[in-house]
Amino acid sequence: MLRSIDKNYLAKAIKDFCKGTSVTTGNFSCEAPGSVQDLEWNHMDQSHRPFIHSTYSDELRISLGENFANSLTKWGNWPFFINVIDVRVKEGQYYQTFTIGGLIYVHTVIEMDFINDDNSSLDISWHILSHWFLRPIHKYLDKKIYKLNVRLQEEDYVIRSQRALLRKYGYNFKSDPPDYCSSNKLTNNTVYPSLKYPIKINIKEFTRINALNNKKRSLYKFGEKEISFIVKKISNIEFYIWPSVCPHEGASLEDGDFCDNRVTCPWHGLNFTGSKLSKEKNTISKYGFIYKLENDFITISNNKS
Ligand code: FES
Ligand SMILES: [Fe+2]
Repeated sequence: MLRSIDKNYLAKAIKDFCKGTSVTTGNFSCEAPGSVQDLEWNHMDQSHRPFIHSTYSDELRISLGENFANSLTKWGNWPFFINVIDVRVKEGQYYQTFTIGGLIYVHTVIEMDFINDDNSSLDISWHILSHWFLRPIHKYLDKKIYKLNVRLQEEDYVIRSQRALLRKYGYNFKSDPPDYCSSNKLTNNTVYPSLKYPIKINIKEFTRINALNNKKRSLYKFGEKEISFIVKKISNIEFYIWPSVCPHEGASLEDGDFCDNRVTCPWHGLNFTGSKLSKEKNTISKYGFIYKLENDFITISNNKS
C-alpha cells in the first residue's frame, strides 16, 4: 500500500477535515478457526456472499486489483447506489468505506491476527460520521452493523473450520497467497494431498455404512478421512465419481446439491460434472486422480503425470 492514514488517527483526521462532524464508533471481536491467511482469503472472496450470507447478490464490480475492490451495490431494488471501497492496507488489515447519500460516511477497519496454530482473532471496528443533525441515525446504523457482523461471522464458521481442517490434512490452494484477484478466481484452485496408497472400492459393497445419507440415495462415500470420494451408483456397470472436497476452494461436496451427473457446491454455486465410469469407458483422469473400473473394483490412484 502506497499510503493510508493510520487507523488510530482516522477519526481525528476526518474530524479535522470537516469541523462539526459527529462520530460514533463501534466494535465487534471474535475468535475464528484457521490461519490469518485463510481469514484473509475468506474476507476478500466476494463470491461466497450471496450463497453463504444472502448479501450483496446485486453487486457490480467496477474494478478489482490485488489490493483493492471497488463495488457498486444498491438498497433493495431501488436505484439508490452505495459505492463500497475495500482496501488491503497490509497483511491482516483491511479498510472498507462507503457513504450513504453523501451524508453519512462509514469507515470500517478489519484486523486479523495470529492466536495459535488453530485459531486467529478478528477485530472489526467502525466509525460512523455525519453532520451532528444526523446523529440520531448513528445509533440505528451502529446496531445494524454490529448485528450484521455477528451474523456474518457465524455463517462464515463453516468455511473457516473446513479450510483449517483441510490445511491439517495437507491440502493447498492455487489461490495462495490470497489477494482480491486470486481470491475471486472461479477456477479449480484446490491442490489435493497425495493418496498414500490407491483406494479400492468393491462395486458389490455399496452399503448403508458408506451411504451419504437417507436423502441422497445412490450416493456413497469411500476413502480416508484426509481424502475421500463420492460415488453415485447409476447401475452395476455405471458410476459417477467426485472428490468429496470441492475442486474450487475446498467446500465439502457432501453438502452440495446432486442432480443427474452434476453437483452444485454450497459455497460459490459452481457445478461439477462427475467422472463417468462404465464398461465402455473404464479409465478417467480428473482433478489429479485416475479412476479405473476393472473386475468388480473401482480403483482410485494419483495421476503422476
Ligand atoms: S468451494 Fe467454491 S464452488 Fe466449491
Ligand atoms: Fe463471509
